[in-house]
Amino acid sequence: FPSRQLSGKRVTITAGPTREAIDPVRYISNHSSGKMGYALAQAARDAGAQVTLISGPVNLDAPDRIQRIDVISAQDMYEAAMAQVQACDIFIATAAVSDFRVQNSHSQKIKKQDNSSAAMTLTLVENPDIIAAVANSTPKPFTVGFAAETQEVEEYARQKIKRKNLDMIVANDVSRIDIGFNSDNNAVTAIWGSGEATLEIASKHQIAKQLITLISDHYHNSTES
Ligand code: C5P
Repeated sequence: FPSRQLSGKRVTITAGPTREAIDPVRYISNHSSGKMGYALAQAARDAGAQVTLISGPVNLDAPDRIQRIDVISAQDMYEAAMAQVQACDIFIATAAVSDFRVQNSHSQKIKKQDNSSAAMTLTLVENPDIIAAVANSTPKPFTVGFAAETQEVEEYARQKIKRKNLDMIVANDVSRIDIGFNSDNNAVTAIWGSGEATLEIASKHQIAKQLITLISDHYHNSTES
C-alpha cells in the first residue's frame, strides 16, 4: 500500500463465529474459521488504519498492532460493536453471527433423565442484527457486509444492501468446493450501489488486500461532498 490509503482511519472488523450457550458445557455455533476477517484486519492495518478486531472464538493468533476484543456470544459481539461505532470510520462485518440463541440457557449442566427417551426441546430466540444496527446509527460509518450464499448470489446480495442499509457487500458462493469456510482461498464479488467488481480465486490475504483497496476508494468517494 504505497499511498497508505487508510492512514489515520479507524476500522472495526467483526470476525469468526459466535457461540450460544445451551448450558455451561454445550453451545450452538458454526464452521466460521475467522480467516477472512483476520486477513482484512491485517490488510487494513498495512494500509495505515487503526484496527479494532472484534473476534469470536477462533484458532488464530492475534495479529500484531491490532486491538483485538474477544467475545463469545452474539450479544457480546453486538455490545462490543455498539461501543465502537461512534469511534470508527469504516465497519466491516465478516462474522458468522448465530441468528438465534437459546432463550433460557441453563446455569447447570443439563442431565439426561434416567429411563427416559423423551424428546428434548430448546426454545431459540433471535439475536440482534449487528451490522444493521451499525448501519442505522448516526453518524454511520462506511459499512461493509459479507453475504455467503449458495444460489443467486448477486440477487440476494443486492437485496441485503438495501435491507440492511449497507454501503457495500461482498458476496461469495459457499456451494463452491474450492473456496469458503475453512479454506485458505476465496473468490468474491464486491457489490455497491452503482457497480460491482469480481475478484477471482486467490488466497484470503490477496483477496483482503484487493478488498481494502476497493473499500478505501469507495469510502473516500463517499466522504467527498
Ligand atoms: O443476512 P445475513 O446473515 O446473511 O447477513 C450477513 C452479514 O450480516 C454479514 O456481514 C454478517 O457479519 C452480518 N450479520 C450481523 N449480525 C447478525 C447477522 C449477520 O452483523 N446477527
